[in-house]
Amino acid sequence: MSDNGKEALLDIRGMEVHFETRRGIARAVNEVDLTLYKGERFGLVGESGSGKTTLILALLRMIKTPGFIAGGSATFDDGTDLIQLSQADVRQARLARVAMVPQGAMNSLNPVMRIGDQLILTMREHGIEGEREQWLKRVEELLDKVGLKPEAARLYPHELSGGMKQRVCIAQAISLNPQLILADEPTSALDVVVQRQIMQTLRQLQHELGATVLLVGHDMGLMAQFAERVGIMYGGKLVEVGTVHDIFHNPQHPYTQLLISSIPSFETKGEFKGIPGVALSLLDPPSGCLFHPRCPQATERCKAEEPRLAEVAPNQLASCLLHEEDEHAPAS
Ligand SMILES: Nc1ncnc2c1ncn2[C@@H]1O[C@H](COP(=O)(O)OP(=O)(O)OP(=O)(O)O)[C@@H](O)[C@H]1O
Ligand SMILES: [Mg+2]
Repeated sequence: MSDNGKEALLDIRGMEVHFETRRGIARAVNEVDLTLYKGERFGLVGESGSGKTTLILALLRMIKTPGFIAGGSATFDDGTDLIQLSQADVRQARLARVAMVPQGAMNSLNPVMRIGDQLILTMREHGIEGEREQWLKRVEELLDKVGLKPEAARLYPHELSGGMKQRVCIAQAISLNPQLILADEPTSALDVVVQRQIMQTLRQLQHELGATVLLVGHDMGLMAQFAERVGIMYGGKLVEVGTVHDIFHNPQHPYTQLLISSIPSFETKGEFKGIPGVALSLLDPPSGCLFHPRCPQATERCKAEEPRLAEVAPNQLASCLLHEEDEHAPAS
Protein backbone atom coordinates (compact mmCIF):
# COMPACT_ATOMS: atom_id res chain seq x y z
CA MET A 1 0.00 0.00 0.00
CA SER A 2 1.40 3.35 -0.94
CA ASP A 3 -1.35 5.71 0.06
CA ASN A 4 -0.12 9.29 0.39
CA GLY A 5 2.48 8.69 -2.32
CA LYS A 6 5.10 8.37 0.40
CA GLU A 7 8.01 5.98 0.37
CA ALA A 8 8.15 3.18 2.90
CA LEU A 9 10.67 3.59 5.71
CA LEU A 10 10.08 0.50 7.82
CA ASP A 11 8.23 -2.62 6.89
CA ILE A 12 7.08 -4.65 9.87
CA ARG A 13 5.97 -8.17 8.93
CA GLY A 14 4.57 -10.95 11.06
CA MET A 15 5.89 -9.43 14.27
CA GLU A 16 5.37 -11.82 17.16
CA VAL A 17 6.31 -11.24 20.80
CA HIS A 18 5.56 -13.82 23.45
CA PHE A 19 5.75 -13.72 27.22
CA GLU A 20 6.36 -17.02 28.91
CA THR A 21 4.46 -17.11 32.18
CA ARG A 22 3.73 -19.85 34.67
CA ARG A 23 0.23 -20.02 33.30
CA GLY A 24 1.28 -20.32 29.69
CA ILE A 25 2.41 -18.19 26.79
CA ALA A 26 0.89 -14.76 26.19
CA ARG A 27 1.06 -13.57 22.59
CA ALA A 28 1.49 -9.90 23.45
CA VAL A 29 2.20 -8.95 19.82
CA ASN A 30 0.44 -11.25 17.41
CA GLU A 31 1.38 -11.32 13.73
CA VAL A 32 1.54 -7.57 13.34
CA ASP A 33 2.07 -6.25 9.81
CA LEU A 34 2.61 -2.52 9.46
CA THR A 35 4.38 -0.28 6.99
CA LEU A 36 5.58 3.08 8.24
CA TYR A 37 6.26 5.74 5.63
CA LYS A 38 9.02 8.29 5.50
CA GLY A 39 8.20 11.45 7.36
CA GLU A 40 4.76 10.39 8.52
CA ARG A 41 3.14 10.79 11.90
CA PHE A 42 1.54 7.52 12.86
CA GLY A 43 -0.60 7.06 15.96
CA LEU A 44 -1.03 3.73 17.70
CA VAL A 45 -3.97 3.31 20.06
CA GLY A 46 -5.55 0.46 21.95
CA GLU A 47 -6.64 -0.34 25.48
CA SER A 48 -4.16 -1.13 28.23
CA GLY A 49 -2.38 -4.41 27.62
CA SER A 50 -3.06 -4.47 23.89
CA GLY A 51 0.66 -4.66 23.09
CA LYS A 52 1.58 -1.12 22.03
CA THR A 53 4.64 -0.77 24.25
CA THR A 54 5.69 -4.34 23.52
CA LEU A 55 5.62 -3.65 19.78
CA ILE A 56 7.79 -0.55 20.23
CA LEU A 57 10.22 -2.39 22.48
CA ALA A 58 10.46 -5.19 19.93
CA LEU A 59 11.51 -2.68 17.27
CA LEU A 60 14.24 -1.49 19.62
CA ARG A 61 15.10 -5.09 20.53
CA MET A 62 14.50 -4.23 24.17
CA ILE A 63 12.11 -7.03 25.10
CA LYS A 64 13.19 -8.51 28.41
CA THR A 65 12.65 -12.02 29.77
CA PRO A 66 10.20 -13.64 30.20
CA GLY A 67 9.42 -12.04 26.87
CA PHE A 68 11.04 -12.77 23.54
CA ILE A 69 10.61 -11.99 19.88
CA ALA A 70 9.13 -15.18 18.50
CA GLY A 71 9.13 -14.17 14.86
CA GLY A 72 8.78 -11.48 12.27
CA SER A 73 10.89 -8.83 10.63
CA ALA A 74 11.22 -5.05 10.67
CA THR A 75 13.07 -4.01 7.56
CA PHE A 76 14.30 -0.53 6.74
CA ASP A 77 14.25 0.78 3.18
CA ASP A 78 17.96 -0.06 2.85
CA GLY A 79 17.27 -3.71 3.65
CA THR A 80 18.40 -3.67 7.29
CA ASP A 81 16.20 -5.95 9.38
CA LEU A 82 16.21 -4.68 12.98
CA ILE A 83 15.21 -8.11 14.24
CA GLN A 84 18.24 -9.80 12.68
CA LEU A 85 20.88 -7.27 13.81
CA SER A 86 23.63 -8.38 16.18
CA GLN A 87 23.53 -6.91 19.69
CA ALA A 88 26.42 -4.58 18.80
CA ASP A 89 24.64 -3.32 15.69
CA VAL A 90 21.40 -2.93 17.61
CA ARG A 91 23.14 -0.66 20.10
CA GLN A 92 24.32 1.52 17.24
CA ALA A 93 20.94 1.53 15.53
CA ARG A 94 19.22 2.69 18.71
CA LEU A 95 19.13 6.44 18.74
CA ALA A 96 21.03 6.72 15.45
CA ARG A 97 18.20 5.13 13.43
CA VAL A 98 15.41 4.46 15.88
CA ALA A 99 14.99 6.52 19.00
CA MET A 100 12.45 6.21 21.74
CA VAL A 101 10.79 8.65 24.06
CA PRO A 102 9.72 6.06 26.62
CA GLN A 103 6.56 5.81 28.70
CA GLY A 104 7.28 7.96 31.78
CA ALA A 105 10.41 9.22 30.05
CA MET A 106 11.04 12.08 32.40
CA ASN A 107 11.85 9.66 35.17
CA SER A 108 14.60 8.15 33.05
CA LEU A 109 16.94 11.12 33.47
CA ASN A 110 19.91 10.69 35.76
CA PRO A 111 19.11 12.78 38.88
CA VAL A 112 22.72 13.58 39.69
CA MET A 113 23.86 14.71 36.26
CA ARG A 114 23.35 18.11 34.67
CA ILE A 115 21.10 18.13 31.60
CA GLY A 116 23.87 19.22 29.25
CA ASP A 117 26.19 16.48 30.46
CA GLN A 118 23.48 13.87 29.98
CA LEU A 119 22.96 14.93 26.40
CA ILE A 120 26.70 14.89 25.74
CA LEU A 121 27.07 11.48 27.35
CA THR A 122 24.33 10.05 25.14
CA MET A 123 26.07 11.28 22.00
CA ARG A 124 29.49 10.13 23.23
CA GLU A 125 28.17 6.66 23.90
CA HIS A 126 27.22 6.56 20.26
CA GLY A 127 30.73 7.28 19.16
CA ILE A 128 30.29 10.92 18.26
CA GLU A 129 33.57 12.75 18.71
CA GLY A 130 34.06 16.42 19.32
CA GLU A 131 35.70 19.21 21.27
CA ARG A 132 34.07 20.76 24.33
CA GLU A 133 33.05 23.81 22.29
CA GLN A 134 31.31 21.71 19.66
CA TRP A 135 29.51 19.72 22.33
CA LEU A 136 28.20 22.81 24.04
CA LYS A 137 27.00 24.20 20.74
CA ARG A 138 25.27 20.95 19.87
CA VAL A 139 23.57 20.83 23.28
CA GLU A 140 22.40 24.39 22.86
CA GLU A 141 20.95 23.57 19.45
CA LEU A 142 19.17 20.52 20.79
CA LEU A 143 17.69 22.41 23.70
CA ASP A 144 16.57 25.17 21.38
CA LYS A 145 14.89 22.64 19.08
CA VAL A 146 12.74 21.37 21.95
CA GLY A 147 11.93 24.84 23.17
CA LEU A 148 14.32 25.07 26.13
CA LYS A 149 16.69 27.91 26.95
CA PRO A 150 20.46 27.22 26.80
CA GLU A 151 20.67 27.72 30.57
CA ALA A 152 18.78 24.46 31.02
CA ALA A 153 22.02 22.65 30.19
CA ARG A 154 23.43 23.59 33.59
CA LEU A 155 20.44 22.41 35.59
CA TYR A 156 19.77 19.11 37.29
CA PRO A 157 16.56 17.18 36.54
CA HIS A 158 14.93 18.14 39.86
CA GLU A 159 15.25 21.79 38.90
CA LEU A 160 13.01 21.26 35.88
CA SER A 161 9.24 20.89 35.64
CA GLY A 162 7.76 17.65 34.30
CA GLY A 163 7.16 19.22 30.90
CA MET A 164 10.71 20.51 30.70
CA LYS A 165 12.10 17.11 31.64
CA GLN A 166 9.99 15.58 28.91
CA ARG A 167 11.47 18.07 26.47
CA VAL A 168 14.95 17.03 27.54
CA CYS A 169 14.02 13.41 26.79
CA ILE A 170 12.85 14.45 23.35
CA ALA A 171 16.13 16.32 22.84
CA GLN A 172 17.95 13.14 23.80
CA ALA A 173 15.87 11.13 21.36
CA ILE A 174 16.66 13.44 18.43
CA SER A 175 20.32 13.95 19.30
CA LEU A 176 21.54 11.57 16.59
CA ASN A 177 18.99 12.54 13.94
CA PRO A 178 17.07 9.27 13.90
CA GLN A 179 14.85 8.31 10.98
CA LEU A 180 12.25 6.88 13.30
CA ILE A 181 11.09 8.23 16.65
CA LEU A 182 8.99 5.98 18.83
CA ALA A 183 7.10 8.01 21.41
CA ASP A 184 5.26 5.97 24.02
CA GLU A 185 2.60 8.14 25.64
CA PRO A 186 5.15 10.92 25.94
CA THR A 187 2.81 13.29 27.68
CA SER A 188 0.48 11.12 29.74
CA ALA A 189 1.81 12.28 33.12
CA LEU A 190 1.50 15.97 32.27
CA ASP A 191 -1.36 18.41 32.44
CA VAL A 192 -3.38 19.10 29.32
CA VAL A 193 -1.87 22.47 28.43
CA VAL A 194 1.69 21.18 28.75
CA GLN A 195 0.70 18.04 26.83
CA ARG A 196 -0.49 20.06 23.88
CA GLN A 197 2.60 22.26 23.87
CA ILE A 198 4.87 19.25 23.87
CA MET A 199 2.90 17.56 21.12
CA GLN A 200 3.27 20.74 19.11
CA THR A 201 7.03 20.67 19.64
CA LEU A 202 7.18 17.02 18.63
CA ARG A 203 5.19 17.77 15.52
CA GLN A 204 7.39 20.68 14.56
CA LEU A 205 10.52 18.62 15.12
CA GLN A 206 9.18 15.78 13.08
CA HIS A 207 8.63 18.25 10.28
CA GLU A 208 12.11 19.76 10.58
CA LEU A 209 13.90 16.43 10.82
CA GLY A 210 11.72 14.72 8.25
CA ALA A 211 11.64 11.78 10.65
CA THR A 212 8.84 9.28 10.98
CA VAL A 213 7.10 9.37 14.35
CA LEU A 214 5.18 6.48 15.83
CA LEU A 215 3.17 7.89 18.70
CA VAL A 216 1.45 5.65 21.23
CA GLY A 217 -1.37 7.29 23.09
CA HIS A 218 -4.63 6.98 24.92
CA ASP A 219 -5.97 10.41 24.22
CA MET A 220 -7.90 10.34 20.98
CA GLY A 221 -8.05 14.14 20.90
CA LEU A 222 -4.27 14.40 20.90
CA MET A 223 -4.08 11.62 18.35
CA ALA A 224 -6.49 13.34 16.01
CA GLN A 225 -4.44 16.48 16.33
CA PHE A 226 -1.08 14.84 15.84
CA ALA A 227 -1.33 11.81 13.59
CA GLU A 228 -1.87 11.47 9.86
CA ARG A 229 -2.58 7.77 10.09
CA VAL A 230 -3.80 5.70 13.00
CA GLY A 231 -3.50 2.02 13.89
CA ILE A 232 -5.76 0.29 16.41
CA MET A 233 -4.50 -2.63 18.47
CA TYR A 234 -6.58 -5.24 20.22
CA GLY A 235 -5.14 -8.20 22.12
CA GLY A 236 -1.74 -7.96 20.45
CA LYS A 237 -3.20 -7.65 16.96
CA LEU A 238 -3.40 -4.67 14.70
CA VAL A 239 -7.08 -4.65 13.83
CA GLU A 240 -7.41 -1.50 11.77
CA VAL A 241 -5.17 1.04 10.02
CA GLY A 242 -6.27 4.12 8.15
CA THR A 243 -5.97 7.86 7.82
CA VAL A 244 -6.96 9.77 10.90
CA HIS A 245 -9.98 11.04 8.99
CA ASP A 246 -11.19 7.59 7.96
CA ILE A 247 -10.61 6.10 11.39
CA PHE A 248 -12.67 8.82 13.05
CA HIS A 249 -15.35 9.24 10.41
CA ASN A 250 -15.60 5.89 8.75
CA PRO A 251 -14.20 3.16 11.01
CA GLN A 252 -14.51 -0.30 9.47
CA HIS A 253 -13.69 -2.67 12.33
CA PRO A 254 -16.46 -3.15 14.91
CA TYR A 255 -13.95 -2.53 17.71
CA THR A 256 -12.87 0.78 16.19
CA GLN A 257 -16.51 1.68 15.67
CA LEU A 258 -17.23 1.11 19.36
CA LEU A 259 -14.16 3.03 20.39
CA ILE A 260 -15.00 6.02 18.29
CA SER A 261 -18.64 6.06 19.35
CA SER A 262 -17.63 5.81 23.03
CA ILE A 263 -15.60 9.01 22.86
CA PRO A 264 -17.76 11.81 24.23
CA SER A 265 -16.17 14.48 22.10
CA PHE A 266 -12.86 13.66 20.59
CA GLU A 267 -12.31 17.24 19.61
CA THR A 268 -11.88 18.30 23.21
CA LYS A 269 -11.40 15.63 25.82
CA GLY A 270 -11.35 12.34 24.03
CA GLU A 271 -9.90 10.28 26.82
CA PHE A 272 -9.63 6.73 25.60
CA LYS A 273 -11.20 4.41 28.14
CA GLY A 274 -11.88 1.28 26.19
CA ILE A 275 -15.21 -0.35 25.66
CA PRO A 276 -17.62 -2.43 27.73
CA GLY A 277 -17.25 -6.17 28.09
CA VAL A 278 -14.83 -8.55 29.70
CA ALA A 279 -11.24 -7.70 28.90
CA LEU A 280 -9.37 -10.20 26.84
CA SER A 281 -7.08 -12.70 28.54
CA LEU A 282 -3.97 -13.28 26.46
CA LEU A 283 -3.32 -16.51 28.37
CA ASP A 284 -6.69 -17.88 27.48
CA PRO A 285 -7.60 -16.19 24.20
CA PRO A 286 -10.91 -16.90 22.52
CA SER A 287 -11.03 -18.98 19.38
CA GLY A 288 -11.38 -17.36 15.97
CA CYS A 289 -11.45 -13.58 16.04
CA LEU A 290 -10.05 -12.35 19.38
CA PHE A 291 -12.72 -9.67 19.49
CA HIS A 292 -15.73 -11.90 18.88
CA PRO A 293 -16.85 -12.27 22.55
CA ARG A 294 -17.30 -8.49 22.78
CA CYS A 295 -18.38 -7.85 19.22
CA PRO A 296 -22.00 -6.85 18.66
CA GLN A 297 -21.79 -8.00 15.05
CA ALA A 298 -20.15 -11.38 15.63
CA THR A 299 -21.43 -14.40 13.74
CA GLU A 300 -20.78 -18.13 14.21
CA ARG A 301 -17.98 -17.88 11.71
CA CYS A 302 -16.14 -15.34 13.91
CA LYS A 303 -15.84 -17.98 16.66
CA ALA A 304 -14.03 -20.34 14.34
CA GLU A 305 -12.03 -18.32 11.83
CA GLU A 306 -9.25 -15.84 12.36
CA PRO A 307 -9.61 -12.72 10.26
CA ARG A 308 -6.63 -11.24 8.41
CA LEU A 309 -5.73 -7.59 8.07
CA ALA A 310 -6.77 -6.65 4.54
CA GLU A 311 -7.74 -3.58 2.56
CA VAL A 312 -11.43 -2.90 3.09
CA ALA A 313 -11.55 0.57 1.57
CA PRO A 314 -8.93 2.63 -0.26
CA ASN A 315 -5.92 2.95 2.06
CA GLN A 316 -7.84 1.45 4.94
CA LEU A 317 -7.05 -1.95 6.40
CA ALA A 318 -9.16 -3.92 8.83
CA SER A 319 -9.14 -7.47 10.10
CA CYS A 320 -12.76 -8.52 10.28
CA LEU A 321 -14.58 -11.45 8.72
CA LEU A 322 -17.60 -9.27 8.00
CA HIS A 323 -15.44 -7.62 5.38
CA GLU A 324 -13.91 -10.81 4.08
CA GLU A 325 -17.39 -12.15 3.49
CA ASP A 326 -18.90 -9.15 1.90
CA GLU A 327 -17.07 -6.12 0.62
CA HIS A 328 -20.16 -4.03 1.19
CA ALA A 329 -20.60 -4.92 4.83
CA PRO A 330 -21.98 -2.11 7.00
CA ALA A 331 -19.44 0.63 7.44
CA SER A 332 -20.75 2.13 10.63
N1 LIG B 1 6.91 -8.75 32.00
C1 LIG B 1 5.82 -9.33 31.50
N2 LIG B 1 5.45 -10.57 31.88
C2 LIG B 1 4.36 -11.16 31.37
N3 LIG B 1 3.55 -10.60 30.47
C3 LIG B 1 3.84 -9.36 30.08
C4 LIG B 1 4.99 -8.64 30.56
N4 LIG B 1 5.01 -7.43 29.97
C5 LIG B 1 3.95 -7.38 29.15
N5 LIG B 1 3.25 -8.54 29.20
C6 LIG B 1 2.06 -8.89 28.42
O1 LIG B 1 2.07 -8.10 27.28
C7 LIG B 1 0.79 -7.51 27.09
C8 LIG B 1 0.97 -6.18 26.40
O2 LIG B 1 1.58 -5.26 27.27
P1 LIG B 1 1.99 -3.80 26.82
O3 LIG B 1 2.72 -3.19 27.94
O4 LIG B 1 2.66 -3.87 25.51
O5 LIG B 1 0.57 -3.10 26.61
P2 LIG B 1 0.25 -1.58 26.26
O6 LIG B 1 -0.68 -1.63 25.09
O7 LIG B 1 1.48 -0.82 26.13
O8 LIG B 1 -0.58 -1.12 27.53
P3 LIG B 1 -0.64 0.32 28.28
O9 LIG B 1 -1.61 1.12 27.50
O10 LIG B 1 -1.14 -0.03 29.63
O11 LIG B 1 0.74 0.90 28.29
C9 LIG B 1 0.18 -7.43 28.46
O12 LIG B 1 -1.21 -7.59 28.39
C10 LIG B 1 0.79 -8.62 29.17
O13 LIG B 1 -0.04 -9.76 28.96
MG1 LIG C 1 2.29 0.78 27.16
